[in-house]
Amino acid sequence: MRRPTMPAFVLLAAPTMLAMTLAGAPRVAAQAPDAAVHRQWMNDASDAQEDYRFAVTDKDQKSAVEALGKLESFMARTEDYWTARKSADGIRLAKAARASAAQAATAAKRGDLAAASTAFDAMGASCNTCHELHLEKR
Ligand code: HEC
Repeated sequence: MRRPTMPAFVLLAAPTMLAMTLAGAPRVAAQAPDAAVHRQWMNDASDAQEDYRFAVTDKDQKSAVEALGKLESFMARTEDYWTARKSADGIRLAKAARASAAQAATAAKRGDLAAASTAFDAMGASCNTCHELHLEKR
């Protein structure tokens, strides 16, 4: 499933980023996106997981690397999101998911899809652990 989701994100985030730029904020990480933007990253991450699984089935290394790169980037944003909300659990699990995605991407880049998939599964465990905490209700 591929949806043209980036424009929506850019549209939602643009005013915040502009405000931060005007305020002289040095890092995009300092912005605090709202829950709708967060949910969009989640759905996009889920799509990227699906893309990765298809890539493995097709033994398509390039697409696998691409999907894992997206996952790493969504988990980086997730980490920033929970950092802004000062949630220790959120930060810890987003970091773990991000590290596993990065590890998977590195393995996929060298053509080792078996190692990539092991790290991909570890990432999925971090996704699930975080969901079980229901941080959105805290
Ligand atoms: C740091 C915590 C955390 C991590 C890590 C995390 N998520 Fe989430 N995720 C959430 C929270 C919180 C919600 C609920 C958001 C809400 O309902 O507003 C959620 C919701 C979702 C949803 C449902 C979105 C919707 O429309 O309701 C999907 C799909 C999802 N996550 C996928 C993923 C995937 C895939 C990963 C790993 C690659 C991941 N998440 C990692 C915290 C996390």
